[in-house]
Amino acid sequence: METVLTGITTTGTPHIGNYVGAIRPAVEASTRGDARSFFFLADYHSLVKSTDPDLVARSTLEIAAAWLAAGLDPDKVLLYRQSDIREIPELAWILTCVTAKGLMNRAHAYKAAVAENEAGGGKDADRGITMGLFSYPILMTADILMFNAHKVPVGQDQRQHVEMARDIAARFNHHFGETFVLPEADISKETAVLPGLDGRKMSKSYGNTIPLFLPEKRLRKAIMKIRTNSQLPEEPKDPDASTLFKIYQAFATPEETEAVRERYREGIGWGEMKQLLFEYVNDHLSAAREEHARLLAAPDHVEAVLRQGAEKARAVSRPFLEEIRSRVGLRPLG
Ligand code: TRP
Repeated sequence: METVLTGITTTGTPHIGNYVGAIRPAVEASTRGDARSFFFLADYHSLVKSTDPDLVARSTLEIAAAWLAAGLDPDKVLLYRQSDIREIPELAWILTCVTAKGLMNRAHAYKAAVAENEAGGGKDADRGITMGLFSYPILMTADILMFNAHKVPVGQDQRQHVEMARDIAARFNHHFGETFVLPEADISKETAVLPGLDGRKMSKSYGNTIPLFLPEKRLRKAIMKIRTNSQLPEEPKDPDASTLFKIYQAFATPEETEAVRERYREGIGWGEMKQLLFEYVNDHLSAAREEHARLLAAPDHVEAVLRQGAEKARAVSRPFLEEIRSRVGLRPLG
């Protein structure tokens, strides 16, 4: 059976782009039962981005609650917190020792940080860059290889990291014998396209997101803020150039989408389309929103779910790490 694995970094609150791109497909895949699925909260990764302990802890709870509220069944998949898997940082070190530094020099996130420093005209190109940021792809590689994942569903921005995981796995296998599956990124079309309030890709770094479980009134307000053009009601409009339409499409069935496409041709007004989108998204999310609120009020329950997930995951990672240790020569004497 194929193993599918993905992680979500625990900084901030999940938004509808995360929902459409990661959470919903994960939940759907897990109900199909044709793959073994690992989903985890990448809290070690969050330490690269945040030195705010309360933010890290809070967003672990919020994101776990979001996945559960969206219908992820922890009996059907392995849902765990990365930092509960003690084998991961150890594997990350072992992999660090077979990873070419040059490979890490080429990582987009690191290069972007260096480019920003250089553009700022400072003398130190590595200013503000931690070893965590630099080695981030190796930790991600350990996440993936620890469970021999075949497929890694991620956004386009993470493709390079999965390719690095593949390179590192091959390098390890070359030195120490067939040990790791070579993973592949699985990039769905939806993941790439959900636009945010300003029409650019919905992303925390652009500050253009719609948080997933906004209370109804604030959800309405956020949707009313989505950028449109100055076309008047009754003018025919191009659905494929419309952020409102793209978000609608991400939630609605193909038939419903086709019907709204027709409304665009007929010249639906922006105000009306916003109201229609709000009502649709609100109906779609309201039950999950209530469940999410219940879970936030029951952190002990969420903690217990994550611990059970970690136990199941460690039943795999403990013996596998023993094997890996032995392969590289970390073995009992005699
Ligand atoms: N780096 C990923 C992101 O920011 C999160 C992540 C961490 C991940 N480890 C992973 C994703 C392993 C897939 C597999 O989105």
